[in-house]
Amino acid sequence: MRQALVMGNWKLNGTKASVEALATALIAPAKAASNVEVAVCPPVIFLGQVQSILADTPISYGSQDANVNVAGAYTGENSPVMIKEFGAKYSLVGHSERRQYHNETDAVVAAKFQAIQANDLVPVLCIGETLEENEAGKTQEVVERQIQAVIDLCGVASLSNAVIAYEPVWAIGTGKSATAQQAQDVHASIRAFLAAQDSNVAQKIQILYGGSVKGASAAELFGQADIDGGLVGGAALDAEDFAKIIAAAN
Ligand code: G3H
Repeated sequence: MRQALVMGNWKLNGTKASVEALATALIAPAKAASNVEVAVCPPVIFLGQVQSILADTPISYGSQDANVNVAGAYTGENSPVMIKEFGAKYSLVGHSERRQYHNETDAVVAAKFQAIQANDLVPVLCIGETLEENEAGKTQEVVERQIQAVIDLCGVASLSNAVIAYEPVWAIGTGKSATAQQAQDVHASIRAFLAAQDSNVAQKIQILYGGSVKGASAAELFGQADIDGGLVGGAALDAEDFAKIIAAAN
């Protein structure tokens, strides 16, 4: 039985005041949902603040990205060692915004996945097809290619200590979520793809759905057999709606 995981990706949003208010507001809903793990990924500049608010609460947290190097002359970057030092559990890797705006290829994402895991963080591997790829019927091919790049570098067993987030790019920030059935079909096919390589990994790995998840749509999505929770962007900035999403996963 896989535990539900609801993760908020705050992207490039927040002030010291809003981070304090949002992180504090999530503690009660997270405690009330004892079957769900709740996690947030703030901009790394707020990790220390989040650590002091969420230490001794059941809420986990992580970064939205990590550099492939642990230290060195890489101006502007954050290393997985530094992220870990602030008590983080997770790091997102390969979010479509990183792939799109920072030209992160499958090979770069796989190398980051490896560095994240080597430094005791749990990678949340983000995958998903663009609208064009979706319309060309290439969804399965794209998500398999994105996962296989990690398997080729790190081995399939590496996925036993990782999370996958399926986020169709056309659903991110658009208000147009995949239907529960569409998402379930892709999640099931991802699990089948993994099962062909390692059935234990396929059964164990949490596969989150991301893309315009809202309080109103969460229950139907999370009710699907292969959807183990959500990676939530916009609605994660609204404490009330995020609390509804947490409750829907419980
Ligand atoms: O990481 C989160 C996803 O990009 C989803 O964002 O909920 O704003 O569509 P969204």
